[in-house]
Amino acid sequence: MKLLTCFTAFALVGLLAAAPTSNEEDDKVVVTKEFYIEDFVKYKAEHDIVNLLAPINSLNFEEDDSSSSESKEKDSDMIVFFVEADVQPDGSRVDQGLYVLKEGVAKKILNNGRDAAASGDDSKLVFFGAKDGLYVYNPTTNAADKYGPITDSIIAIAKEKDGDVIYILTEDRQVYKVTDNGEKKELLDDVVKANQIVVDYENNLFFYSDDKKPYVRTDDGVKKVEGLPEITGGVVLIRPPFFLDNGAPFIIDNKVYVLYPNGSSEVTDFEFTPNTMPTAFAPEAALLQYYAYDKKIYEYNVLALIVSSLLEDLGNYLNKQAVEIRSLSKNSKLKRKTQA
Ligand SMILES: *[C@@H]1O[C@H](CO)[C@@H](O)[C@H](O)[C@H]1NC(C)=O
Repeated sequence: MKLLTCFTAFALVGLLAAAPTSNEEDDKVVVTKEFYIEDFVKYKAEHDIVNLLAPINSLNFEEDDSSSSESKEKDSDMIVFFVEADVQPDGSRVDQGLYVLKEGVAKKILNNGRDAAASGDDSKLVFFGAKDGLYVYNPTTNAADKYGPITDSIIAIAKEKDGDVIYILTEDRQVYKVTDNGEKKELLDDVVKANQIVVDYENNLFFYSDDKKPYVRTDDGVKKVEGLPEITGGVVLIRPPFFLDNGAPFIIDNKVYVLYPNGSSEVTDFEFTPNTMPTAFAPEAALLQYYAYDKKIYEYNVLALIVSSLLEDLGNYLNKQAVEIRSLSKNSKLKRKTQA
């Protein structure tokens, strides 16, 4: 926690940074097709990639013991999970499987898997929501094992940072809190007609509802998030980078906002040009981020981007944040695991 609070004041880095808007034109980052660099492609799919998860727990990171040095940072890929589907013209999806991408090899581990969520603690827990209930990742067999007795048709899943609390959004649009090793299921009747859910690192539940408004559910109950433009088109609620203590990125009309648990919101310096929006987002690890676009998974190494001139706009932006980014990488308790 100490590390995280150090960084609350910092501008967020990476493609989905959440710096309060600066009003300076050259601090804006506008994502164009050029951001999708062929060299960054980690996987090419047959179908649309509709969900992406880069776990920031012990599956990919180890605790920093003070003897370790910067050299522990590795460029090697993280273990990521993704979901493929055929997206129909009406927006509905035909399941095409949930995959794990490990050491460059993609393996389908659930035919009807639809979403994944991981803990942000020292465990290796990754859970999957599927058409027929919940599953948990088995790192030994690199496969999915059934988790608990739940058989609901799940369309989205979110996880609290620690412990075993999972939130599931079912096909009939109810949100349940699942506890006790998947045995106990409690309906959250104050979460009405959600169609996207995200839980931040202080366990606030953000959801987007059919009434075209985002809400946050905290210990104080549910409130609407204010200060946003009217929503007419599609929106995306995104799992936050790990050092955003609370709050969640939210895209409206190609512009990135951050929603906060106190019901306020802020616009950031990031936006997408039309048709350049990723189809799935995984900015959790901050320094190594994954995005899906046009059936491909791209990996962005933020430290490498600072020194490269591949993306001039982004490079300029990141350079201004370079001091913070470097201390983030040095002080981070989240050191990349050295190759086993
Ligand atoms: C709500 O939280 C945000 C982020 O922590 C903060 O910047 C803002 O001042 C808060 N607003 C109110 C009204 O407390």
